[in-house]
Amino acid sequence: MQNKKTIITYGTYDMLHKGHMRLLERAKALGDYLIVGVTDENYDRSRGKLNVVESTKKRVKAIEALDFVDKVIVETHKNQKAEDMVKYDVDIFAIGDDWVGAFDYLNKYTHVEYLARTEGISSTQLRSENFDRIKMGLVGLGRDTQAFIDESKFVSSLNVNRIYSDDFLKVKAFTKDNVTIKYGHDNYDEFLDTPIQAVYIDTALEEHYTFISKALKAGKHVLCENPIALNKGELKELLSLAKKENKLLLSAVKTAFLPAFNQLLKELDSGVIGEIKEVRATRTSLYKEKDYSQKFIGQGATNILSAYPSLLMNKVLGKSKKISFFDQIEDGYDINNLIVTEHKGGALGISNVAVGMKSEGDAVISGTKGYIYIPAPWWLTKKFEVRFEDSHKTLNFNYEFEGCGLRYMIAEFGSLIQRGKGKSKMLTPSDIVGINRVLLEYNEKRSPKKAKKTKKEEK
Ligand code: CTP
Repeated sequence: MQNKKTIITYGTYDMLHKGHMRLLERAKALGDYLIVGVTDENYDRSRGKLNVVESTKKRVKAIEALDFVDKVIVETHKNQKAEDMVKYDVDIFAIGDDWVGAFDYLNKYTHVEYLARTEGISSTQLRSENFDRIKMGLVGLGRDTQAFIDESKFVSSLNVNRIYSDDFLKVKAFTKDNVTIKYGHDNYDEFLDTPIQAVYIDTALEEHYTFISKALKAGKHVLCENPIALNKGELKELLSLAKKENKLLLSAVKTAFLPAFNQLLKELDSGVIGEIKEVRATRTSLYKEKDYSQKFIGQGATNILSAYPSLLMNKVLGKSKKISFFDQIEDGYDINNLIVTEHKGGALGISNVAVGMKSEGDAVISGTKGYIYIPAPWWLTKKFEVRFEDSHKTLNFNYEFEGCGLRYMIAEFGSLIQRGKGKSKMLTPSDIVGINRVLLEYNEKRSPKKAKKTKKEEK
């Protein structure tokens, strides 16, 4: 008997359509055994495909259900195709002719065949027919406003064209001749009264609570710079309000949405470095919030930066049980804080945040079998290494991305709203509580009177 002929093909297969089915049927007809590689969501996002609506799991299930597909694998990294050709002893690599030439390099492993694409249908087209673009407005002329506008242009699920700031002259100057942000408001109620469905808030930290609360009550979804509130009572209240109003409330901690960061969590879940005993992360910046001056508690390294290491500690080690601070105060606020958190099973989290000094911003996750090293700036996670005592066994993960990383967060925000989801798996409401625990506890310690007063006011 002749050897069976193995065919392989790859794709995202979002919202499976007849173009996909026809391609797969024709691919199978080229041989006997069809392997389909479905792209992993982190891989897709890292290569700029930000607007896929279905999860990897859902897309894999849809392909597995097809009679003529024999095996489904998940494509997670750039060089995987060549590895798969060898691993599965592939005879033909088939792909749509929108890729003509792009995979010729694989001819040295197998025979590459480009098949005619079906005219008139694509996932992109189905997404735009099935989901309306979310109209979004910006609150405040903050330090990330322009970056947010630039990055949102890569996200097809939403459209940002409106801004609010109480500074009339600044709004006027910003919107004048601005082709993207055409509408400016200096009255928040009027701004909320427009057809926008969602807002991004980037104002002084002490104003977050009021802006969020009003936006949620006006039926808007909210993405807000962290901390979204400066005491525990207000944070709880905002999260319950979002739930009650059935609206999304997300902290704008961009690290949580980066493809490499999510891949890192997947690797850890697989147990690759054994039991995790310790996480260390440093986040420093020489930047000082000039506009915000020193008039409120929400300044200093812990308020501005601790959410980043707390995100890592929280995602990797779970809730912190005991928190100790070793801070350095200058001009009334902490320029440097070494924060030690204790977690389940005695694991330690060691976070260092600083705004008055610069240090190496890397992170190390240590386990009983090996460790993960994330080079600086770890919070803009692009690559990481899984290292073992035997250095030959090191595994490299590389998810370079373009821009400043905001687009992944914006894409998740838009996609959740479009799909009617109340929370993100990448940053759940309990993650939001977790990433704020350290700073809220620190605020209580530093300013117990204010924290007590707010609790009383609540009652
Ligand atoms: N394909 C096809 N005909 C179509 C659409 C896709 O033959 N009308 C093929 C592609 O060439 C590829 C496979 O189906 O070999 C998976 O393509 P994918 O990129 O997942 O689908 P698209 O509809 O092209 O997705 P998007 O619009 O998001 O790029």
